[in-house]
Amino acid sequence: MAPVLTTHGLAYAYPGSERATFEGIHLSVEPGEFIAIVGRSGVGKSTLLRCCAGLTGASAGSVQLQARPTENERPSAFVFQDTRLLPWRRVRANVAYGLQGLDMERKAIEDRVDEAMALALVAELGERWPFQLSGGQAQRVGIARALALHPQLLLMDEPFSAVDALTRQKLQDELLGIWRRAGPAVLFVTHDIEEAVYLADRVIVMGGAPARIVLDRRIAQPRPRERESTGLQQEARALEGAL
Ligand SMILES: Nc1ncnc2c1ncn2[C@@H]1O[C@H](COP(=O)(O)OP(=O)(O)OP(=O)(O)O)[C@@H](O)[C@H]1O
Ligand SMILES: [Mg+2]
Repeated sequence: MAPVLTTHGLAYAYPGSERATFEGIHLSVEPGEFIAIVGRSGVGKSTLLRCCAGLTGASAGSVQLQARPTENERPSAFVFQDTRLLPWRRVRANVAYGLQGLDMERKAIEDRVDEAMALALVAELGERWPFQLSGGQAQRVGIARALALHPQLLLMDEPFSAVDALTRQKLQDELLGIWRRAGPAVLFVTHDIEEAVYLADRVIVMGGAPARIVLDRRIAQPRPRERESTGLQQEARALEGAL
């Protein structure tokens, strides 16, 4: 099967800045693959993710989203660190938000919203307002909103960095469950190496200025994984070396 996303020699420089944020990024994401992107703060992870989503144009090189969604699906969907729920819409209306531009019947939209809310474990929260949600619940709603689009690529920018450690582990396991059932490829940005090796099939380390991919490591640990296993700890140490 063709990759869902490929970039060739991708570079980006913010307008007015002398140096590129990153350059020479060659990346290929296979269908259903879970890739984590790590690197120090300011290295360009969020910028890269926005380029991959087409939210930001590239300065050089190319991004190709090859995903060929069928009708009423989207090639990619984004989950933000700060959730970006619309405060004047109830949870259900937030989840439905991205579907409004699609040519779908009301019933089909309702079904899609129900399915996404069930997958993201927020089925009970539909009538709440965003301000009535905990941090973890708000993240789940952000994930439901993305899943409702039936994306072939889910782009996630540090989605769990603002919640406590226990909630974070719970959200990680829920995400793995969603990934297994819904099956999108995932590009997941995180600061946290433990999180990266626990979740991903492949971990990509960005480094340098302009940033490049300094390591692309396959995490060949079987699933389901044990957080404390020796294998994962070894993988984490190998990655820490590259950071
Ligand atoms: N709008 C902007 N204009 C100019 N420079 C920017 C802009 N946004 C970000 N930058 C700079 O681009 C670089 C990359 O930023 P980016 O947000 O992609 O980093 P990051 O790896 O996601 O960092 P973090 O881990 O802190 O989220 C940083 O040096 C940042 O200061
Ligand atoms: Mg960032």
